[in-house]
Amino acid sequence: MTKTKDNKGLYTLPSNQEKIDLLKRKNEEALLGGGEARIASQHKKGKLTARERLHMLLDEGSFQEIGKFVMHRCKDFGLDKQHYLGDGVVTGFGTINGRLVYVFSQDFTVFGGSLSETHAEKIVKIMDLAMKNGAPVIGLNDSGGARIQEGVVSLGGYADIFYRNTLASGVVPQISAVMGPCAGGAVYSPAITDFVLMVEKTSYMFVTGPNVVKTVTHEEVTSEELGGTSAHSTKSGVTHFSCSNEVECINNIRQLISYMPQNCEEQSPVYPYQSDSSESRPQLNDIMPENPNQPYDMREVIGDVVDPDSFLEVHKNFAENIVVGFGRLAGKSIGIVGNQPASMAGVLDINASTKAARFVRFCDAFNIPLLVFEDVPGFLPGTDQEWHGIIAHGAKLLYAFCEATVPRVTVITRKAYGGAYDVMNSKHIGADMNFAWPTAEIAVMGAKGASEIIFKKEIAEADDPQKALDEKVEEYTQKFANPYRAAHRGFIDEVILPENTRIKLIQAFNMLKNKVDKIPRKKHGNIPL
Ligand code: HXC
Repeated sequence: MTKTKDNKGLYTLPSNQEKIDLLKRKNEEALLGGGEARIASQHKKGKLTARERLHMLLDEGSFQEIGKFVMHRCKDFGLDKQHYLGDGVVTGFGTINGRLVYVFSQDFTVFGGSLSETHAEKIVKIMDLAMKNGAPVIGLNDSGGARIQEGVVSLGGYADIFYRNTLASGVVPQISAVMGPCAGGAVYSPAITDFVLMVEKTSYMFVTGPNVVKTVTHEEVTSEELGGTSAHSTKSGVTHFSCSNEVECINNIRQLISYMPQNCEEQSPVYPYQSDSSESRPQLNDIMPENPNQPYDMREVIGDVVDPDSFLEVHKNFAENIVVGFGRLAGKSIGIVGNQPASMAGVLDINASTKAARFVRFCDAFNIPLLVFEDVPGFLPGTDQEWHGIIAHGAKLLYAFCEATVPRVTVITRKAYGGAYDVMNSKHIGADMNFAWPTAEIAVMGAKGASEIIFKKEIAEADDPQKALDEKVEEYTQKFANPYRAAHRGFIDEVILPENTRIKLIQAFNMLKNKVDKIPRKKHGNIPL
């Protein structure tokens, strides 16, 4: 506020109107972030500004900003002469479909969205509020990383955030959208959160950039190849959603949050649902190919079973041999895990196991019932898988199901072989209701492999080994390639017509809605990481 003098040359106190005008000017200044030229440059790159993103993300008029006038305290490298209100991050709270969320949105127009001590303090403040008030945290990341002029102070700020990300894990949902650069240790905040979304062509994440990579490993690689959306959605699995533009990214966040409760003590919102009198889905009777080695698309099964258009697939392009995502059954949220026969015959490998395990744990942490569709020929054999630890990684999925206390229902559509039968939410590891279609084959292994082992001698000594093998395969198939052995034992609760799957599932989850189950008291388990 400028000092004013009266006509006698004496200083006067500012009037109330001047004070109000000052506040208005400051508000306007804060809205401009790093200034119009940098906003134009942001737009030129096909990116929205931090505020434009929040405007789209939150319900109209619901955003309440916190810390708009915060400024950095650094005096080094000329920063004492460069101050921007808000210090490169817009923080606050608002609503999505009327439900409270806490948000931060990094402003690339201010020092490249880099994280200073005060920038970190703003994020920490809304994370602490989110924890105390039990609501999700959504971070929109667009940052050049640590504020280089601040040195270790900035690193400390990152660690303050990582620490809170970890404490908040399993307490409130945390979602990270990466909408620009995210490099160095900065990547670890999104990595700890529950879901990461990236935007094609404009966002990338890596621990070390292409220059360092070239120096250390002599690899020539572009930022996009190294850590772009495609790399992380198909190869590393770091990102759960690859979005073609920022609008799609924001819409995905809004949709994603609709399946979740506000925190681990609450249930997900229930959506209005008009009951269809029969709930029968006759098309499911025709989905299974006659030849058990022919693929079909498990997404079709899922789409036919859940409420129309309610399936939101997570990790769509990563480990496609397993499908995971959220859906609704009669308006209620469920987490779905399905082997995908249309990709690698639905075999379980390292990536599929870790993908599904993380999803199962999210659902369990946030009281979202689990529905499993099973058609799995087993775990993928081979040195590559063994040497990269399929034992430990497969065990993650087993562990995740074993410790899940939410309502759990399985439908075996076709193959349920070997260890994979146990792992995929079997009765033995705590599933509540286990259904099988008449096409289910529940056995230690496929009939041919089994016959070759147990009748090896007989087949070798037969006059016609091929005929002998065929006969044994037929015998094994008759005995085990069906759901009835398991049903006789009670491992399957009911063999159902495919067309009745939806109604059976609605009834099962309804029956389980008050389920109370607990794992033994402990500090925490030790999942095979
Ligand atoms: C301070 C930064 C900055 C940073 C960018 N800027 N990154 N200021 N600290 N880390 C400023 C630039 O000076 C510039 O200011 C404005 O932001 C935009 O940057 P440009 O380079 O003009 O933009 P662009 O060409 O789009 O390139 C973006 C970029 C590049 C790729 C992010 O700026 C870059 O490489 N920055 C450094 C990235 C980095 O090495 N960060 C540290 C990573 S290590 P003006 O005034 O011109 O607008 C790290 C450790 C975290 O983060 C550890 C946590 C445990």
